[in-house]
Amino acid sequence: MEQSLNRFQGKAALVTGAGSGIGRAIALRLAREGADIASVDVNEQGVQETAGMIRELGRAAYSFTCDIASVQDLELTAAGALEKLGKLDILVNNAGTGDSNAFYEDIDEALWDRIYAINVRGPFFFAKAIAKHMIDNGIKGRIINIASTEGKTNRGGSITYASSKSALIALTQALALQFGPFDITVNAICPGLIDTPIWHRSDKIMDLAQGSTIKMVVETAMDSRMIKIARVGMPDDIAGAVAFLASDEASYITSQAINVCGGLEVH
Ligand SMILES: NC(=O)c1ccc[n+]([C@@H]2O[C@H](COP(=O)([O-])OP(=O)(O)OC[C@H]3O[C@@H](n4cnc5c(N)ncnc54)[C@H](O)[C@@H]3O)[C@@H](O)[C@H]2O)c1
Repeated sequence: MEQSLNRFQGKAALVTGAGSGIGRAIALRLAREGADIASVDVNEQGVQETAGMIRELGRAAYSFTCDIASVQDLELTAAGALEKLGKLDILVNNAGTGDSNAFYEDIDEALWDRIYAINVRGPFFFAKAIAKHMIDNGIKGRIINIASTEGKTNRGGSITYASSKSALIALTQALALQFGPFDITVNAICPGLIDTPIWHRSDKIMDLAQGSTIKMVVETAMDSRMIKIARVGMPDDIAGAVAFLASDEASYITSQAINVCGGLEVH
C-alpha cells in the first residue's frame, strides 16, 4: 500500500511486538510517514529485521529485545528507547499472546499470569514509563493499545485471551481519563481476523498449508454473515487505523476501542 502522507515527520514512536505481523506493519507505516522508530520484541531476529526495513526507508531505527512480561526489562527498554531517540511521541502497545483456547481445566496459575503479564501488565507499565516522559516534556502524546474484538464479544471461546483483552480496553479508558488533562490521547484498536503468523501456528499444529486456518475461520464468519467485507483482514488494515489515531487529525478522539474487523463486531 503506497502512502503519500507525511504526518509523523519529526516524531518518534515505540512499537511493541514489532518483530512480526501487525506490529511490523505498524512500525513500517509510521516510518513511511516520517517517524523514527524503537521496535521492541522478544523475538530478536524478527525485531532486528524490522529495524533493518525501517532504516531502508531512511528513518532512524533501533531494535530492543525485550520480554514485556518483565517490568524490569520493559522499563530498561523504555529508558533505552528514550536515550536513543531523545523523545517519544507515540506508544503502540501491540505485543500480545493467547492460550490457543485452552480448556478451563488446563489453565494453571502460571499460564494465567503469563497471558495477563503480556496483554495487560506490560501495556500499563510501558504507558506509565512513557506518559511520564510525555507529561514532563509537554508532549501531546498518543498511546494506542492493540486489543481484540474478542475483548468485546467472546466468539472464540478463549478464557485468558478474551478476558485479558477486555481488561486492556478497560485500561485504555482508565488511562485516557488520567492523561486527558495533559492532551495525551489513549485509544484501543480491536482487530478482527487478521492474517498474521499468530494464525499460522494453528496451521502447523494441525498440519495444514500456511494460511488455511485464517481462511477457514473467515469463510465461516462470512457464511454466517458476521463479516461484511468479503476478505481476510491484513496487518496494513490495522496499521492505517493506528496511523490515523496517532495523527493530529485524531486529537479529540480518546478512550475509544475502535473495531477494525470487516464488520465482525458492531459495538
Ligand atoms: N491476528 C489477528 O487475527 C488478531 C486479532 C485480534 C487481535 N490481535 C492482536 O494483535 C497483536 C499482534 O498480533 P499478531 O497477529 O501480529 O501476532 P504475531 O504473533 O504475528 O505478533 C505478535 C508479536 O508479539 C511478540 N511478543 C509476544 N509476546 C511477547 C513478549 N512477552 N514480549 C515482547 N514481545 C512479545 C511476538 O514475538 C510477535 O513478534 C496482538 O496483541 C494480538 O492479540 C491479532
